[in-house]
Amino acid sequence: MNETPDIHDDFSALSKKFADYFGAAPLFAVRSPGRVNLIGEHTDYNGGPVLPFAINLATFFSVGENNERCLKIFSEATGESLSYGLEKTPHETATTLSKILKGSLTLTGYIGPGLNIYADSNLPIGAGLSSSASFIVGMIRCLLTAQKKELSHDELAVMAQKIEHEFLGVHCGIMDQVAICSGKKGAAILLETGKMEKTFLEVPGNIEFAVIDSLSRRSLATSDYNQRGKECLEACKYLGVEHLASLTMDELNSATLKIAPDTLWLKRARHVVSECERVYQVAEHLKAGDFIALGKAISASHQSLRNLFSVSTPLINTLVASAESYPDCYGARIMGAGFGGCILAVLAKGAAAEFQEYFHQRLEQLNMSPLPFYVVKPSAGVSVWRFK
Ligand code: GLA
Repeated sequence: MNETPDIHDDFSALSKKFADYFGAAPLFAVRSPGRVNLIGEHTDYNGGPVLPFAINLATFFSVGENNERCLKIFSEATGESLSYGLEKTPHETATTLSKILKGSLTLTGYIGPGLNIYADSNLPIGAGLSSSASFIVGMIRCLLTAQKKELSHDELAVMAQKIEHEFLGVHCGIMDQVAICSGKKGAAILLETGKMEKTFLEVPGNIEFAVIDSLSRRSLATSDYNQRGKECLEACKYLGVEHLASLTMDELNSATLKIAPDTLWLKRARHVVSECERVYQVAEHLKAGDFIALGKAISASHQSLRNLFSVSTPLINTLVASAESYPDCYGARIMGAGFGGCILAVLAKGAAAEFQEYFHQRLEQLNMSPLPFYVVKPSAGVSVWRFK
């Protein structure tokens, strides 16, 4: 089985990579995890609840100072290196990295020392595990630490979301950033985005989570993600509400008696309203340890994302069906924004290794190549590690 690294991963290897690249030792490292969302997809920008957790895969930054009044960064994932003069207004090129740097320097109002940063990651990029939010939160944390500044978890999350909105053009909700900033080992976060209220729910040791990366990619900014947001707003306009999450299913049904069921905005609204209800159900099932009911809700979420919200793909549907055909899989679904990316499978305790083998054989039977497989665990949120 693939080894999925755990925290606190190998900071000495990170330190060595930094030293090889910059020729000096780093001062500190930042670990910024990815996230899995148990349930509550496309509900966060509709004022609804979500149930994510930070995971044991992360972006790592090792950071040292330089005397050149500039910020130099190397990203191992993309092979990109950039250098910024800190005296000037941050500039940007067309790359995502430069936009993130410009956003982070601007919003933190960075006036600290020159910095060398080596960014490394064991988080698959663009797979629906929030690699982008993980990078942004980590980058902000680096700049704050270098300036000896602190922000609360929620302030950090909101700043990272602002960078997505204003510098990357992705009108995302707040789920990813909150999970990454506030994650706790062994717990999922029931986040009610309307009130920004968090309840930590213990994830019992007798379920396991596997993530399978379909390797199909579609970037959020160019995908239909923003379009879904617009369709939800259109639904709000017809229904006379500010947020779709403020409606119950009964209210939605009675308000739309005369509307054709295949009307686009109504389908989107039906997904959001039913998904919000499923989040609360799954939270209860988690507390009660009722994994069969939990799995059914996970699979129902997939059907809704596929049929009503139209964010799944034929490949993903095949992967979900393959996962669900395994006897010890409680439920599976597409995860994250969709349009490709990865699936989440909820498994009985101890089943992950056998499930991986089973899944591999299913792919062979379907004449498909093996796909990256990760066992993920609820882990701590963003953290700073000081080298001695
Ligand atoms: C992306 C966004 C989140 C959320 C999910 C879909 O991960 O960043 O805010 O909307 O998609 O649930």
